[in-house]
Amino acid sequence: MEITIKIFRYNPEKDKRGHYETYKLEGDENDRVLDVLEYVKGMEDGTLSFRRSCAHGVCGSDAMRINGRNHLACKTLVRDVGANITVEPVLGLKVQKDLIVDMDPFFDNYKKMLPYLINDSPLPADGRERLQSPEDRARFDESTKCILCAACTTSCPSYWANGDYYGPAAIVTAHRFIFDSRDEGAGQRLQLMAETDGVARCHTAYNCTEACPRDIKITKAIGEVKMAMVTGKLK
Ligand code: SF4
Ligand code: FES
Repeated sequence: MEITIKIFRYNPEKDKRGHYETYKLEGDENDRVLDVLEYVKGMEDGTLSFRRSCAHGVCGSDAMRINGRNHLACKTLVRDVGANITVEPVLGLKVQKDLIVDMDPFFDNYKKMLPYLINDSPLPADGRERLQSPEDRARFDESTKCILCAACTTSCPSYWANGDYYGPAAIVTAHRFIFDSRDEGAGQRLQLMAETDGVARCHTAYNCTEACPRDIKITKAIGEVKMAMVTGKLK
């Protein structure tokens, strides 16, 4: 089948603003959009720039807008989006080149969530690790699946309106630790969540949940964090 792909192009060394370039190629409906981009880069224009690494939905590096919605290019088949494909960088982060955006603000917000276990209590006297029941582990299982692709945060209208909003991905990270029974930092993280740029900026647009390639119920997780803020209950 013939595939037509229109790609946003921007080279800060040459271009005042971005533009689109269109490429036509022979492909298969089972090709991934990442395969199509690789073909264009390999056979048509080696200057085309985009991030990718694992090609299997694990590393989270190839989130981009495909036909107007955020997806991972490596998890999106041509048959899912059709033979006329438009690929653009995600919104809300500065474009550095072509499909590559500056991820620093995204990871700055991630780091603000204290993304590590906080527990200063002594370990059990028998030297064993801190134990956790299967039920307690299940409490935050969903939020451990995040691959930090930013598809959620960059599809959020509240984030587009105000880049200071921590954004859904950061809240998912906070959720992962707030509800971990071994962690003692929930108070600090809930304080962050209560700040102006915390969960109050979420207006439940659901874009995040729809965009997540890991099918994390992000809006539900944000709701659980909001509830914990109000009730102080972590169970
Ligand atoms: Fe990506 Fe989902 Fe994590 Fe958001 S929550 S960064 S969409 S994996
Ligand atoms: Fe790693 Fe797509 S290239 S998630």
